[in-house]
Amino acid sequence: MKFIVGNWKMNGTLDEKEAFLKALKNVKTNNKIIICMPFTLVYGNDHGITIGAQNISEHANGAYTGDISGQMLKDADVKYVLVGHSERRLYHNETNAIVKAKAIAAIKNGITPIICIGETLADKKAGRTMTVVKKMLLECIPEKCKYIIAYEPRWAIGSGKTPTLEEITAVFETIHKTLHQQGCENISLLYGGSVNSNNAKQIINIKNVDGLLVGGASLKSDTFLPIIKSID
Ligand code: PGA
Repeated sequence: MKFIVGNWKMNGTLDEKEAFLKALKNVKTNNKIIICMPFTLVYGNDHGITIGAQNISEHANGAYTGDISGQMLKDADVKYVLVGHSERRLYHNETNAIVKAKAIAAIKNGITPIICIGETLADKKAGRTMTVVKKMLLECIPEKCKYIIAYEPRWAIGSGKTPTLEEITAVFETIHKTLHQQGCENISLLYGGSVNSNNAKQIINIKNVDGLLVGGASLKSDTFLPIIKSID
């Protein structure tokens, strides 16, 4: 079983959610489909696909206006949450330490965090991809091996560009080995960044790639369904 995770970012109304779920209703797949929706849409996991969230507070409760806690997500029956997406790191100054704290908060509430890591274009150009990815990984992972890792090169997000298959293979090998050294086996690893129905199959067939994290192409069933179908 592979994971196909959608990330709607700050998109989606209730009508759009309903239309999307209706379109996906009869899709036959052996894979696990999760759509990380805005908080306003996370209720109602009763459509055969799993709805996840895109953020969680590192705090349990209290005076943190606008934040949503793990307990609240648990109440809403959320089972997966993205943490450390590069847009959160960029626009909300989330550091590796914060990302780790968020992952811990998720696990405490029985929610699987999908921890996002990935290098910038400057890192890549300077030949620092492996060092950066490894450092981010080690600084973001909680002790309990109860998480998913999403490798998303920042420069690949929304750009239509992806690393070569060889580059993805090498990074996943490093992530896999690093987690092994930490005593964590069987952690699912996802690739994200400009995934579409033309490249999904090739990427998912790479060694150690257990799934995909899809942004733009997950917004409409017209572009998401072909990805699901291309993988089965
Ligand atoms: P993209 O986004 O598929 O639009 O590149 C991926 C993501 O941000 O998770």
